[in-house]
Amino acid sequence: MKIVVTGVAGFIGSNIVDAYIERGHEVHILDDLSTGQRRNLNPKAEFHEVDIAHPHAARLIEGIKPDVLNHHAAQMDVRHSVADPTFDARVNILGFINLLEGSKNSGVKKVIFASSGGAVYGEQDVFPAAEDHPTRPASPYGVSKRAGELYLSYYQQAFALPYIALRYANVYGPRQSAKGEAGVVAIFLSLLSTGKTPVINGDGGQTRDYVYVGDVVAANVAALDSTFVGPVNIGTGVETDVVTIFRHLREAVGSPIEAQHGPAKPGEQRHSCVDAGLAAQVLNWRPQMILDEGLRRTAEFYRETVGR
Ligand SMILES: NC(=O)c1ccc[n+]([C@@H]2O[C@H](COP(=O)([O-])OP(=O)(O)OC[C@H]3O[C@@H](n4cnc5c(N)ncnc54)[C@H](O)[C@@H]3O)[C@@H](O)[C@H]2O)c1
Repeated sequence: MKIVVTGVAGFIGSNIVDAYIERGHEVHILDDLSTGQRRNLNPKAEFHEVDIAHPHAARLIEGIKPDVLNHHAAQMDVRHSVADPTFDARVNILGFINLLEGSKNSGVKKVIFASSGGAVYGEQDVFPAAEDHPTRPASPYGVSKRAGELYLSYYQQAFALPYIALRYANVYGPRQSAKGEAGVVAIFLSLLSTGKTPVINGDGGQTRDYVYVGDVVAANVAALDSTFVGPVNIGTGVETDVVTIFRHLREAVGSPIEAQHGPAKPGEQRHSCVDAGLAAQVLNWRPQMILDEGLRRTAEFYRETVGR
């Protein structure tokens, strides 16, 4: 297949590109390198350095005429989306519409979209949340992810453009950056690997559903061949608290450092967890990685790359 992937210098997108290339697909990759790293670009893919919100990005898609658009580029810093919702919407909403406009008349047969379970459901009524759980995004970032899903639904109805929106839980694994408002795994590992003391916000009893990037890649591979249209949760259905994550990482790194507890973050969601039963049905997807092994592999990656 001919596939365009966006956000390919980042954490998840770059891992997906490697898997698509390995499977023999022709892959064109788009990124503006605003937060991504050039070293994550797969040399076997055709790289286009472009801002997804620029008209040139839409023209690129019209020229490439891919079978699939896999969209992972995003402004993904929740706090930044609160501080500057206009910038967030420019990248995450207008940038995505620009790519959809480029796709609708280019023979694109499917759009795969990186959505977010935690961000679109907001405070959950039930645990884990299935896809029919009410969506109450609690940040402009969450609103932009939900808006992306609604635009996909519109393009599917109006232009028969099929899509699958993968609502990820908290993704962790090799290549996750510790900069900005990163995941707790990346932040703790970068501190532990350099002998610094991590700070746990509040009591550390906040829980998240941690899914390994290799499993997320497998969902993006399965999505290529699926005929399902709509949102699908990608997570483990298991909640793990921050204190437990810290203990696993400390052991994986072999560090004697103890975390300190700081003040709780006001407004932080206490619990979040998604039900991936639909993914098992429509993608034949189930998470394979067990948490302590996934964290060990991630720690290994940090050990090898720290200081690079
Ligand atoms: N990491 C998670 O836990 C998680 C959870 C749910 C959803 N997601 C979604 O998955 C996707 C990938 O996340 P990630 O963790 O790999 O993020 P990342 O920040 O590592 O990668 C994002 C990439 O997008 C690029 N980018 C940003 N703005 C751009 C623009 N205007 N034009 C072109 N490229 C641009 C960046 O340079 C970067 O390489 C995002 O859409 C994110 O919202 C991530």
